[in-house]
Amino acid sequence: MPASLLPQALLAFDDEQPLAQDLAATLAVPLHLIERHRFPDGELKLRLPAQLQGTVVLLRSLHQPNEKLIEVLLTAPGARAVGAQRVLLAAPYLAYMRQDIAFRPGEVVSQRHIGALLASTFDGLVTVDPHLHRIASLDEVMPACTAVSLSAAALLGDWLAAHVDRPLLLGPDEEAAQWVERAAQAHGLDHACCVKQRLGDREVEIAMPTVDVRDRAVVLIDDMASTGRTLIGAAKQCLALGAASVDVAVTHALFVGDALPALRATGVRHVWSTDCVPHESNAVSVVPLLAQALQRL
Ligand code: R5P
Repeated sequence: MPASLLPQALLAFDDEQPLAQDLAATLAVPLHLIERHRFPDGELKLRLPAQLQGTVVLLRSLHQPNEKLIEVLLTAPGARAVGAQRVLLAAPYLAYMRQDIAFRPGEVVSQRHIGALLASTFDGLVTVDPHLHRIASLDEVMPACTAVSLSAAALLGDWLAAHVDRPLLLGPDEEAAQWVERAAQAHGLDHACCVKQRLGDREVEIAMPTVDVRDRAVVLIDDMASTGRTLIGAAKQCLALGAASVDVAVTHALFVGDALPALRATGVRHVWSTDCVPHESNAVSVVPLLAQALQRL
């Protein structure tokens, strides 16, 4: 690969500094923290290095996405204005992927429009376990851009095989099958999935699979925990049915509001996540995955 296509600098914001430092060190490029000033009316002013060149990577995980989307929309052209020839986005968590169809007439399909916006802003994008449910690949969301979708499921599987004795991996809904199967694969772990019906933002109904959870070390695996109600519903049922323990492993630890304490209150033992979203439960690093993908992009 020509040297100019390999990343030559990493841009990041101070709230993601630990992940940014690891990624910059793995890529062997300088890290530049973007200065951010908030005006009294809420507008943002960003300051990048005075000069950039070649391929520049912006690291921005898009949890709490609305303001971060503005940051990335300002940073990409700003980086080009000071010399960057290619700007790649490393967004370990890619927001707005769940609204992938209009469930009711008139609903805006956020996935398609945010995908198109990012595709027109960046030369390439790398993300981890985006919530692709009714579509097969990220290319359908970002047809005009080189978009790479990585999965942390196998890394979570390695972690679980090393930390839980003969775990039973359980997806809390049918959509989780893709992650549960990947996590189970390398170590031949037992696995199954529940069926979920969502009744509201914080209301779900979970139907357990036929698999026997009695005396088993159950690990609930999902791409993300937001309000935690999906995991809480599944954890309660596993414990009521006699599971020996219930642990949780997710790629994206959004855990909004009371999600984490409410989940722990059900009797869940360990909560583990990747470092895609900075959180106290982070246990598994996606930096090697991201770095490899960015070097190939
Ligand atoms: C969607 O189905 C996802 O895979 C998660 O299960 C969901 O987003 C979790 O949301 P919450 O934590 O709010 O139940």
